[in-house]
Amino acid sequence: MQFGYFNDAEREYVITTPETPLPWINYLGNREFFSLFSNTAGGYSFYRDAKLRRITRYRYNNEPTDNNGRYFYIKDGEINATWNIGWQPVRTQLDSYTCRHGMGYSIIESEKDGIFARQEAFVPIDDPCEINRITITNHSSMPRTLKMFSLVEFCLWNAVDDAANFQRNFSIGEVEIGDEGSALYHKTEYRERRDHYAFWSTNCPVNGFDTSRDAFCGPYRGFDNPAAVEQGHCFGSVASGGAPVGVHQIDLLLSPGESRSVIFLLGYVENHRNEKWEAPNVINKARAKALMAKYSDDKQVDEAFAALSDYWKTMLGHFSVLSDDRKLDRMVNIWNQYQCMITFNMSRSASYFESGTGRGMGFRDSCQDLFGFVHLIPSRARTRILDIAATQFEDGSAYHQYQPMTKQGNLEVGSGFNDDPLWLIAAVTAYLRETNDFSILEEQVPFDNGKVPSQSLMEHLRRSFRYTKDHMGPQGLPLIGRADWNDCLNLNCFSEQPGESFQTVENIKGGRAESVFIAGMFVKYGSEYADLCAHMGLKQESAEARNSVAKMSRTVLSAGWDGEWFIRAYDANGEPVGSKTCDEGQIFIESQGMCVMAGIGVENGYAERALKSVKERLDTEYGIVLHQPAYTSYRLNLGEISSYPPGYKENAGIFCHNNPWISCAEAMLGHGNRAFEVYRKITPSYLEESSAIHRTEPYIYSQTIAGKDAPNFGEAKNSWLTGTAAWTFLFVSQYLLGIRPTLDGLVIEPCVPSHLHEFAVTRVYRGATYLITVTNPNGVERGVTAVTMDGEVLDGNLLPVAPEGAVVTVAVTMG
Ligand code: GLC
Ligand code: GLC
Repeated sequence: MQFGYFNDAEREYVITTPETPLPWINYLGNREFFSLFSNTAGGYSFYRDAKLRRITRYRYNNEPTDNNGRYFYIKDGEINATWNIGWQPVRTQLDSYTCRHGMGYSIIESEKDGIFARQEAFVPIDDPCEINRITITNHSSMPRTLKMFSLVEFCLWNAVDDAANFQRNFSIGEVEIGDEGSALYHKTEYRERRDHYAFWSTNCPVNGFDTSRDAFCGPYRGFDNPAAVEQGHCFGSVASGGAPVGVHQIDLLLSPGESRSVIFLLGYVENHRNEKWEAPNVINKARAKALMAKYSDDKQVDEAFAALSDYWKTMLGHFSVLSDDRKLDRMVNIWNQYQCMITFNMSRSASYFESGTGRGMGFRDSCQDLFGFVHLIPSRARTRILDIAATQFEDGSAYHQYQPMTKQGNLEVGSGFNDDPLWLIAAVTAYLRETNDFSILEEQVPFDNGKVPSQSLMEHLRRSFRYTKDHMGPQGLPLIGRADWNDCLNLNCFSEQPGESFQTVENIKGGRAESVFIAGMFVKYGSEYADLCAHMGLKQESAEARNSVAKMSRTVLSAGWDGEWFIRAYDANGEPVGSKTCDEGQIFIESQGMCVMAGIGVENGYAERALKSVKERLDTEYGIVLHQPAYTSYRLNLGEISSYPPGYKENAGIFCHNNPWISCAEAMLGHGNRAFEVYRKITPSYLEESSAIHRTEPYIYSQTIAGKDAPNFGEAKNSWLTGTAAWTFLFVSQYLLGIRPTLDGLVIEPCVPSHLHEFAVTRVYRGATYLITVTNPNGVERGVTAVTMDGEVLDGNLLPVAPEGAVVTVAVTMG
């Protein structure tokens, strides 16, 4: 069953009913002002940091679901009906409805009794505001008297405090009314330590306004039947304490065929301390007014919208494919890259499943997100790398998370996730392969957010590498610490108290547990580090790194091999995890994916064997589960993984993030059909028809899909903010289509399903545009027989780096 369809030409997903299985959302904003926007206009906005600068209020885990947003009510005098353009919160049945989520914008169109309304929402490229343009058209044959009400509810900035500290918060709310109610300013705490305020304004004179939620709604009523709307007029309330909202009332008289548009702006303003006020207790509105003036008529809004479209057109022009598989093309060209931008911006902070108050930026998450982003805006990737590196400790370990606004590491969670340091190497080498900008390695970056003086970024990488090397366990495998990639495999923390954090209880002396997964990472990213050293002329360091890597490979082939697959880890007692000797959790996906991607066991057949075991034991109709058999009881020595009911999340769910590791690994062995099969099973465009089961948005990846042990097998959760976006893009662009950046330039090495007989890729790389066509006349899965560039036959498949601005044509023949 579908609830909409793709419109590839417009780069949109068109939702045709407001009653989707779950709210299907979009993200507006690219740099500092961000909004979550659902198919019923629900969601919220924040400036840079969803925890510390929340602009509008949102209530997670509420009922009905997705209850708060930027809402527009239409009260129809003639028909005596009240409805919302986006259906919520009144939920009056509409005569027609569509919501189009596009690149950085969403448009809802609905019609009721001959009144057609459109809500266009977007955040302009460079300004801290969300624009909502409402257009109302009278499609009927009689004149119509309408009253429109707008609504946003302000959040008192700190989203955690806002949802908890009511004894204070009900006494501090403050607003100012400007332009006779057209501009409503939210200025809670501005009188004291804050230098920022928000506003909700309209370009049109109003017939009324409210700023007190209590007044607007009336006692014991909700946004679904506010008193003001029912009575047909606002009360002119000025919130003082209580809950500030922004409500405009605009009365419209529309003759048959007449159309009116009204522009609303939700803005955020920061003032310098010495220019906060224009009069005692009156905020300085200059910046707000400048924003309002900039978006005060349709032409300005159209231009800002066009600029946003151009921005995305250019952005997505960096990599695009044309093949005869539409579902592949639409993911590669549009949605997968779009999601990579969103995960870059948000890390794991704010979605409909991440409250924006918790995790902030993850060290490993943000490093991996760069794999799918670095080709889009390398300069922002560069800044991000330096920010992340500054949260590293002097010994090479790292804060596991940091807050985007303060860029300070999160003390509560701290450090000790022993895969983290190696992801920094992975991020930097990905950046270098893309840009060739070796100057980044000379950047001086502090440790521990400035508490320890700066060293070069290269020195940071050196310490990442060394940290792993210096923290080996009894079998010569890397110590896992609190957890590795699998946050829930907590082998050194035995938690017995409800509510305790599984990751941070430290009660096992010595922490001897080891990770075969980190060993695989050490081989993969340690080799990349060795390549980097070689590239920089650090011969000895490179040779030493290679030795350590080779030694680790050998250790994995002995201590890490179980006979038919790679072991996952050794617990604190030295017992294997992910071995046939275990009663449950006999085989795990992560070590198979990472070790094969690292090239371990390719020569002696272990890699083939491991992937075969994955297929036999872990594969399902909806993707590859994390391990099997699922844990059916709580295991003190394994931690959070065994706390989930079987089939969910890390307990044998389909954790989409690591499925592309298997696709990459299969591609490395030349298995294009299998690699593609693994890709297809979790890729949303191929799952659109099962939306009723899958439930999350069919245009983007979710973190997990319930595994075969779960009653709801196939149901996805935690959409949007997942490393799946970056890894699937890496797989599909670099392995499947095989356009792979290296330190020396682009290498072409596709590994495709045999039905893919030809495709064309446009790739902007280091400032030049490569127009690449690949033909595969014999339907092979791998193998390049000829490459020409601008007509010249090349010796091999490494493309010479073309000068900036050049457009080159590349023809590749597979066979
Ligand atoms: C979540 C975390 C990520 C972790 C994964 C597996 O996606 O954000 O860091 O690797 O879960 O536990
Ligand atoms: C990751 C996991 C989640 C776990 C969390 C703990 O996000 O996906 O299951 O609860 O880490 O930090």
